[in-house]
Amino acid sequence: MASSSWLLVILAVLAPVMMGAAGRHGGPDPSPVPAEPAFAWSLVFAQEFYEEFIYGPFVQTTTGVYTYDWHSRRYRVDRANGRFDRYCGPNGHKIFEDTPCSQLVVNGTRYMLYTDKRECCMCCDDQHGCGILKPTWAEQAKYAGEAPYVLRNGTTIQAHSWVVKGNQDNVVYEALDGTLLEIFQKPNDRQVFDPSSLTHKLDKSVLELPDWCDPTKPCDTLSTCTAVQHAPIFSLMDFIWPHKQQQHTSPSSPSSSCASKNRPSLPS
Ligand SMILES: *[C@@H]1O[C@H](CO)[C@@H](O)[C@H](O)[C@H]1NC(C)=O
Ligand SMILES: *[C@@H]1O[C@H](CO)[C@@H](O)[C@H](O)[C@H]1NC(C)=O
Repeated sequence: MASSSWLLVILAVLAPVMMGAAGRHGGPDPSPVPAEPAFAWSLVFAQEFYEEFIYGPFVQTTTGVYTYDWHSRRYRVDRANGRFDRYCGPNGHKIFEDTPCSQLVVNGTRYMLYTDKRECCMCCDDQHGCGILKPTWAEQAKYAGEAPYVLRNGTTIQAHSWVVKGNQDNVVYEALDGTLLEIFQKPNDRQVFDPSSLTHKLDKSVLELPDWCDPTKPCDTLSTCTAVQHAPIFSLMDFIWPHKQQQHTSPSSPSSSCASKNRPSLPS
C-alpha cells in the first residue's frame, strides 16, 4: 500500500478515539461545549453609577453618569465629587477640593470640567493616550463564569464576568441580557452601574464642550493629565482609541522633562 493510504487507515482508526477524548465523558453523542458569552459594550449608552475608590483601609465613594457615543467619538464621565478620581483629583489644588468633575472626550481631546467652579482645562489628546475608550476594549476578555450578583438595591441576579488584562486586571460584570453591572479596575476603582438607569437615547448636549471652557488652557503641570502623556499609568489606558503613539522622547520638549521630575504621587 502507498504510504498515503496507510495514513488514511491510521486516521480512520484514531479519529473516534480523538473525538472521544475531546468530548465529555463516555456518551455516544456528547453535547457540544456551549460557546462562552462575549462581553458586549454598547456603542451608544448612558448609565448612572456608584463608585468606590479603595486606598488601603480608606474607601471614598461618589456617584456619577457615564455617557458614551462611539459614533461621534465622544464620551463623558461625570462625578458628583471628582476629588478621588485619578484624573479629576490630581490636578494642582483640586486634590484638596470636594467638587463635581467631568471628563469629556471630544474632538480627539480629553477635557476636565469642574462645572460648579466654571473651571476647565485641556487634559491631553488622543495621540497621548487621552482619547475615547475603544468599544472593543474588552474583546480579549477572558470569561470568568456565571454567578449570583447582588445589586445595590439588594436584589440578586445572575451575572457573567470577564477579566480584561491591562496594566492591571479589570473585572467586568454584565447581567445575562448584556446590561453593564460593574467595572472594577483593580485594585482601587470600582464602578457599579445601575441597571435601571441604562438608556441608549442620549442628551447630546452634554457631549458638547461648554462655552465657558477655553480648549487651549492645559491642566496643571502637577496633574495626572500631564503625567499620562509620558507613561501609561492606568489599566484602561491600554484601550484608548487610537493607540497611543510610540514614545517620542523629544529632548527639545520642555514639558516632558518638567513632568517627569514633578510627577505627582498617584494613588495605586
Ligand atoms: C479640534 O482639534 C483640532 C486639533 O486637535 C483643532 O485644530 C480644532 O480647532 C478643534 N476643533 C474644535 C471644534 O474644537
Ligand atoms: C432592583 O433593581 C433591579 C434592576 O433595576 C430591579 O429589577 C429590581 O426590581 C429592583 N429590586 C427592588 C427590590 O427594588
